[in-house]
Amino acid sequence: MTDLVAIARSLFAPGKGILAADESVHTATKRLADYGISASVETRRLYRDLFIGAEDIEESLSGVILFSETLLQKGSDKKLFPTSLAARGILPGVKVDLGAEPLPESPHEFITQGLLDLPERLVAYKKQGAVFTKWRAVIRIDGDTLPSAVALHENAKRLASYAKEAQSAGLVPILEPDILHEGKHSRQRSRAVIGEVLKTLFSVLEEHSVDRASIVLKTSMALSGSESGRTDSPEEVADDTLAVLVENVPPQVAGIVFLSGGQTPDEATTNLAAITRRAKELNMPWPLTFSFARALQDEALAVWKGNEENVPTAREAFLNRLAKVSAAASG
Ligand code: G3H
Repeated sequence: MTDLVAIARSLFAPGKGILAADESVHTATKRLADYGISASVETRRLYRDLFIGAEDIEESLSGVILFSETLLQKGSDKKLFPTSLAARGILPGVKVDLGAEPLPESPHEFITQGLLDLPERLVAYKKQGAVFTKWRAVIRIDGDTLPSAVALHENAKRLASYAKEAQSAGLVPILEPDILHEGKHSRQRSRAVIGEVLKTLFSVLEEHSVDRASIVLKTSMALSGSESGRTDSPEEVADDTLAVLVENVPPQVAGIVFLSGGQTPDEATTNLAAITRRAKELNMPWPLTFSFARALQDEALAVWKGNEENVPTAREAFLNRLAKVSAAASG
């Protein structure tokens, strides 16, 4: 039987974290377009290979979250991406949700799709080399009105059903309630919403008898909204983020990873460093690390621009950032 707790814990090897390289076709198309690259199966393969094919990433990465298409593609080393990662001691994971759509009861909010054929897809992903999975729920803050109770409950129910299915299939679940950075809200409001989301989530997980020891929580940092006109100090972010986590996340959880949420690479790195530093001082019960997409990728994409001759310098930019982020994860 697969030891899910051991796999989940191994994602938190000291100084290591997770690269989120699991953009859906839709998101990857937007991301590539930002740098003048037109999307195709092949440009997406080259996009993934830019990061996965970089030298010595195993020094800083414990895992990479892939998109289902990427599980079946090969890198420049002619190996399937999951095989190539596993050969370097990096755990391959896969995003298993099928994206968020407007929530019928509250159309300005979102509900994540993908439960219907999930058991069959999980069997296939496991055969293709995935050992862990991710499901993202999208939570929007708008003043005091959003998120609505229905958005919190419906997303928590789906996260719990997903986690149960993943564990039954022998795959570690990463539960990602992404509390969006976009908005005019204060950091205090972000902290309060993260608290509501986690409270609802952990009570629904209990109702579904999800094993807490083999789940990983992927969360947002407590930040002022991107349109609030305010920049929080790293210490403020660290204090509020850790306070809300300690109030709501059971100590049995295998660990907590942070998404970057549209912060600049420097902001995400500095805030992560402040969080891990403070977590050590406070002796927090779970290990913490990163699971960034944009904050790890953006600088490299800006150099690469889809040109083969830029690959070495783009990889250098990526490895540079990865070294800083992994140092930040160590506190
Ligand atoms: O689904 C979002 C990713 O898992 C994290 O992405 O670091 O760009 O927020 P981000």
